[in-house]
Amino acid sequence: MSNIYRTHHCNELRKEQVGDTVTLTGWVNSTRDHGGVIFIDLRDREGLTQAVFRPEESGDASAISHKLRAEDVITLTGRVDARLEGTTNDKLATGDIEILVEKVDILNNAAVLPFQLDKDNLHEDTRMKYRYLDLRRPRMARNMKLRHVVSKATRDSLDEDGFIEIETPVLSKSTPEGARDFLVPSRLNPGKFYALPQAPQQYKQLLMVGGIERYYQIARCFRDEDLRADRQPEFTQIDIEASFVTIDDILGLTEKMLARIFKNALDVEIPAQFERITHYDAMNTWGSDKPERRFDMKLTDLSDVFAESKFKVFKGTLDNGGVVKAINAKGFACVTTGQINRLTELAQETGAKGLAFIKVEDGEWKSPIVKFFSEEEKAVLSEKMAIEEGDLILFGADTWNTVCEVLGRIRLEVAGIQELLKDNKDYDFFWVTEFPLLDFDAEEGKWNAVHHPFTRPMAEDMGLLENEKTRGQARAQAYDVILNGTELGGGSLRIHESELQQKMFSILGIDEETQLSEFGHLLDAFNFGAPPHGGIALGMDRLVMLVCGEDSIRDVMAFPKNNKGQDLMSASPADVDFKQLRELYVKSTLKEKKEGE
Ligand code: AMO
Ligand code: AMP
Repeated sequence: MSNIYRTHHCNELRKEQVGDTVTLTGWVNSTRDHGGVIFIDLRDREGLTQAVFRPEESGDASAISHKLRAEDVITLTGRVDARLEGTTNDKLATGDIEILVEKVDILNNAAVLPFQLDKDNLHEDTRMKYRYLDLRRPRMARNMKLRHVVSKATRDSLDEDGFIEIETPVLSKSTPEGARDFLVPSRLNPGKFYALPQAPQQYKQLLMVGGIERYYQIARCFRDEDLRADRQPEFTQIDIEASFVTIDDILGLTEKMLARIFKNALDVEIPAQFERITHYDAMNTWGSDKPERRFDMKLTDLSDVFAESKFKVFKGTLDNGGVVKAINAKGFACVTTGQINRLTELAQETGAKGLAFIKVEDGEWKSPIVKFFSEEEKAVLSEKMAIEEGDLILFGADTWNTVCEVLGRIRLEVAGIQELLKDNKDYDFFWVTEFPLLDFDAEEGKWNAVHHPFTRPMAEDMGLLENEKTRGQARAQAYDVILNGTELGGGSLRIHESELQQKMFSILGIDEETQLSEFGHLLDAFNFGAPPHGGIALGMDRLVMLVCGEDSIRDVMAFPKNNKGQDLMSASPADVDFKQLRELYVKSTLKEKKEGE
């Protein structure tokens, strides 16, 4: 795009343009004074070009060049020259040429920056406060561009598959996805509140009742929950719903979309079909419903080895219907006492009673528990765990659930300490299927939906729902897509019958009155010819984070919040005027709370 500001961008000129007169615009990335000859690197979104001001050839421009400071915005016109031999820069795409400046205009001056743009390890608060400067850094510019490539590939793929993009309201009604709602008071309806959507779940299902058949949206979602590296209060989903589909259809179109995204963004070919593992196998083998499978350290069941053991912890657990499992941390016999203590604390936080271990060092099994093992137990254990010099074996004995969760967590922690994934560039995509439908919350004494209340049970497990005792075994027609141990997305086939939906609400402890007040619209809609339907939502920020090789979703969002949910740049959330609150019929109890403390 050529105009008065530029004929080329700053990453475009090569030897072929030598001799041409060009105009470039951008920011002064750096300046160097070589005895009166000023060199600058001019930067725009695309890259850098070196420009040189020579007193005898650049005329007035040369005088101006002495005043240029980092981040001034300038337009310059000049001749493309080949750089002299020995002064070329192969690290720069434009490193063979430079611009001999004939004319320069300063479009705006920059004050001294609060930090140098090329400085690494800046404090994140500083980056957030001056996010508009942080975004000028090449890494952030690349992330923003890749994010665009991801959303474009998403749209192209879904468009080809017959999906249409439809926006759903942001001022909406609470829909349960497991987090707290953000509420917005309604001035026109005193005392009433909108909820910002945690996901467009009900709207997309209602679009299916509306005969849309194939919907998608790159949708903003809001969840008031504790924040982490992969969680923001406001985030984006690639949200998809389709009618008259099977699980295979949804998984297939997601695989196709992800293949396009990885091809376009990184030129990486990913498998056309991802492996599918059941939730049971994921937990049993890897101790997680989103396992990181790029290192081994699988959970091995040892219940049969210790069925008659003299070690009471193991035998007692097995007699009570529990299990004994272990992982082999290869080469980690060098673990320190401090590390073992920390791992034990972590196991206990996850619900374990202890973390038994064996270190294999100098041909010896060093462990407080081995003295209880018979020779036969040792032999079978050694074979089952493929024990070798240098290994560290870590045991869990408890209910199946607890052991899987504990060892799953320990496994990740150990891999972190051992840096097992350092420099690993693999992409491990797979599906976890057949999730349990319900989860019993012992504290509250009630059943919760593992996915959400609109998820369809597996047809063959419908009978299990009838009995309180067997409910926990019922599986859902739900699936998650995992990439490198991160849950990229999840979805399910849905309930489309009013009666079944009501039954599900009742199992979840939602009484009839609440069902009608909260979900009456959905139950009504299902009475008017709702088609069978299902869908999925992928966390777009998480996806882009993995595409960009970043560790935090904050690095792939233009204006993220910090871990207290604040935007440090605009200082939000902020105080509001008393009058504003009065107009909204809202009274703050903060003062009373503070006085009460
Ligand atoms: P779910 O709650 O599993 O499903 O969300 C889908 C995906 O959204 C991403 N995600 C988040 N990303 C960043 N910050 C957050 N706070 C956050 N919360 C979730 C995750 C997750 O896999 N309506 C259903 C989908 C469906 O059934 O179609 C839903 O929202 O990557
Ligand atoms: P104790 O007999 O309680 O001294 O435990 C001996 C070892 O077994 C210690 O290393 C404990 O951490 C460990 N241990 C105790 N209970 C369990 C358990 N349920 N699962 C795994 N290890 C355990």
